[in-house]
Amino acid sequence: MDAFRIVGGHPLRGTVRISGSKNAALPILFSSLLGGEFTLRNVPCLRDIRTTLSLLRQLGAHTEHLDPPATSPSEWTGTISISDRQTPDYEAPYDLVRTMRASVLCLGPLLARKRRARVSLPGGCLIGARPIDMHLKAFEKMGARITIHHGYIDAETDGLVGAEIALPYPTVTGTENILMAAVLARGTTTISNAAEEPEVADLAHFLMARGARISGAGTSTLRIEGVEALCETGYKIMFDRIEAGTFLVGAALLGDSVRIEGVDPAPLASILDVLLAMGAEPRIEEEAITLGAIRKPVGTSVRTLPYPGFPTDMQAQILPLMATASGPSSMIETVFENRFTHVMEMNRMGAEIEIHGSQALVRGGSRLEGAIVMASDLRASAGLVLAGLVAEGETEIKRVYHIDRGYEAIERKLELLGARIKRVQEDQP
Ligand code: UD1
Repeated sequence: MDAFRIVGGHPLRGTVRISGSKNAALPILFSSLLGGEFTLRNVPCLRDIRTTLSLLRQLGAHTEHLDPPATSPSEWTGTISISDRQTPDYEAPYDLVRTMRASVLCLGPLLARKRRARVSLPGGCLIGARPIDMHLKAFEKMGARITIHHGYIDAETDGLVGAEIALPYPTVTGTENILMAAVLARGTTTISNAAEEPEVADLAHFLMARGARISGAGTSTLRIEGVEALCETGYKIMFDRIEAGTFLVGAALLGDSVRIEGVDPAPLASILDVLLAMGAEPRIEEEAITLGAIRKPVGTSVRTLPYPGFPTDMQAQILPLMATASGPSSMIETVFENRFTHVMEMNRMGAEIEIHGSQALVRGGSRLEGAIVMASDLRASAGLVLAGLVAEGETEIKRVYHIDRGYEAIERKLELLGARIKRVQEDQP
């Protein structure tokens, strides 16, 4: 198994280009099950994306990487064409869903197009129970019959019909699943209390480019008028705002001027607000943000919330900055019930963070020291990488396969900025 070995304390300097968004690419790729053909640019090279492509192939899609440059070390170009081969397959098996919860995103498009879906019920995961009851209730309201047997969701319909869906909570993949189902349903669907995340808006804009009739993209009320079929298009996936946020925190910790390129600053507002409150002085341009280390970071209070609030996916990364800031900070996690597994590992590195239910109280003023630590999930791994970069001495982060799910070549990008980080085999001396 791979691990990262980091020698901390080296300043970060230079330019980093942010990749395409994992959480926007996933639903857009799954929407290929609605039929037709399209080409995507800026698709990040990540384990979750490869898993999705292999699930889509099992379900009958044809995928092709376009324009490989002659000098490319791999077949990955970021440009992928997808077409539907109209096979009768409709099952997402346990083996794939187990490795990636977002596989449930095939449910909506399969029901809409093939009128049948069989998807392994995702289990709980380390950060919370993560049920999908809101997805299923919405599909039932749209005319699906759903049963759960032997760990599988079996859903079928004689044809989905538009419905008024009022979500009790603005679930991200729930909104995306319902949106994809509604695009080909008969009649009009409204989704109120919809998730407003930019990745949901990216999916809506992509579907609109394919001829879907959607209004309210990026707001909490989506109105979808079903159409017969979607047309061909080319589309560029939006940038990954969590990767951008991770590099922003890296710059705030150790930057000797880091330029973060390929971003739209607007969806980063809540992250920038926290960094500003802690003393950052970013230079914001239309498609880039430049930031140096905060000279005397001060503690602050943050609460994770659905967009436009501070993202739960940035909670682990901000903690090392809070730990080293002067004065106390607090972090309240409102989205997932158990998302502080990285705190114990950070405390082993010298942070002083106490957990009280959904709140982490950070004492501040700590000098972090390198240690051997264990990554427990994707964003926790990114938080530990940042802690390792600022810690004195050597840190080894085990189980970095988690980070490969969602960060494209993070160690190479950090190395180019001057970090001392290398990927090793866990038992390598
Ligand atoms: C998505 C993101 C994930 C991010 C999360 C919150 C993707 C692939 N993943 O996950 O990176 O951390 O949004 O921004 O885009 N819930 C229910 N019932 C449901 C659905 C959700 O109770 O039917 C609860 C969940 O357990 C959780 C909360 O609602 O406590 C938010 O979950 P949700 O927005 O659905 O997160 P995901 O879409 O799984």
